[in-house]
Amino acid sequence: MTYGVDEYQRRTPKGRAAWERAAKLIPGGVGSAIQFKQPYPMYIGDSRGSRVWDLDGNEYIDYSLCYAAMVAGHANPVIVEAIKRQAEHGTLYGLPTTLAGDLAEEIIRRYEGVIDMVRFTQSGVEATQTAIRLARAATGRKTIVKIEGQYHGGTDHLLVSIGGAPADAIGPDDHPRSTADSAGLLPASTEYTAVVQFNDLDQMGRAFDEHDGDVAGVIVEPAMTNGGVIPPLPGYLEGVRELCTRKGAVMIMDEVKLGCRIAPGGATEHWGVKGDVVTLAKAIGGGVPVGAFGGRRELMEQISPLGSAVHFGTYNANPLGMAAGLACLTKVMTDDAYKEMTRLTTRLADGMRDALKETGVAAHVVQVNTLGGIFFGLEGQPNNFREAAKNDTAKWDDYWFGMLNRGVIPMGSAWFEEFSMSAQHTDEDVDRTLQAFEDCLRAIA
Ligand SMILES: Cc1ncc(COP(=O)(O)O)c(C=O)c1O
Repeated sequence: MTYGVDEYQRRTPKGRAAWERAAKLIPGGVGSAIQFKQPYPMYIGDSRGSRVWDLDGNEYIDYSLCYAAMVAGHANPVIVEAIKRQAEHGTLYGLPTTLAGDLAEEIIRRYEGVIDMVRFTQSGVEATQTAIRLARAATGRKTIVKIEGQYHGGTDHLLVSIGGAPADAIGPDDHPRSTADSAGLLPASTEYTAVVQFNDLDQMGRAFDEHDGDVAGVIVEPAMTNGGVIPPLPGYLEGVRELCTRKGAVMIMDEVKLGCRIAPGGATEHWGVKGDVVTLAKAIGGGVPVGAFGGRRELMEQISPLGSAVHFGTYNANPLGMAAGLACLTKVMTDDAYKEMTRLTTRLADGMRDALKETGVAAHVVQVNTLGGIFFGLEGQPNNFREAAKNDTAKWDDYWFGMLNRGVIPMGSAWFEEFSMSAQHTDEDVDRTLQAFEDCLRAIA
């Protein structure tokens, strides 16, 4: 029995009632499967700053932050004001406004020398989906290479080997098999999506050899954040870059989670490796659904109406999202904000390591600037999804409910997610979180 589940149920009767109603109307009672957690998902009633309140009025310090999207924190007054101001003038025109140019300019400034032009979407998945279409259009080739355990959104060609397949289906460690991780995919999804393990350049090189002349692009999240947090080994991203250049393939840096979050210029700035196309979302929308893809001018000029790679969308570059994103990036996420968020995340990660030592619980804590992760039962840093998946997931469940019951949403709602900091978290939040963490560890040790 998972530690803390009974207590969670005792504290959340309104949440349970809301879920029982929703579950009759909406599959699983949730908008996305990741929001579902046994025995029933949390239902949120309100949020502000670093805090959210559930329907039962319980308060939580939030480090899930909608899977790292809420960089500015909840209901940030600067962003609320920008949204209100825009809403008074309309929320959708189906025709352009100057706001998209302003936000594009800010993104291009942050990704100078990498992104010359940007197109906006509503979400990360539309950005990655269109990026792979662009790679295929630009090269006239079919195969996309992706990393096992990396998640790029629920599009058919990328719902491959995201980590859901049983052990007997995934192939050997040095030669992963492409697995269809959803019913309803065409065979073409696995046929044209080659899969390799993260941090292994030999496998990447072999994938190019096996699909000689047909690799349109490689899509890579520069540090994994959906298989636990796994940074790239030194030289890995450079090696992928070199292979893509040599073989004429498009390198797609999926920075949906990391972009404009771990640094002003995201993973590109942090690791200094330049993709041909960068996909963005989450942080760039300031809490409103916005995604984007951008890259070198000659590639982006292949997007319709300039070129023949189609990109459509009723809600693309809608003024509400553009206004929120612009306020977030230009007014909230200053250079100082990134520094402060990194300082707080370092305090949190260091304090977690101290508490683990103190209580004798085995776990590895990893930090990348403003976000981090924890692997229970692992002493060292895993370097790919298969190593990460050996973590003690039962212990993670104990930690999840143990922390909820102590007023902290410790991270996104699964072991393979991350904890992240917002611009509204404080030292006091970190102090309280560390106290809760140590208490929780003592209870689950
Ligand atoms: C790295 C990465 N790419 C793409 C996506 C898909 O983004 P969205 O959920 O906005 O469609 C996600 C979602 O978490 C992600 O983490």
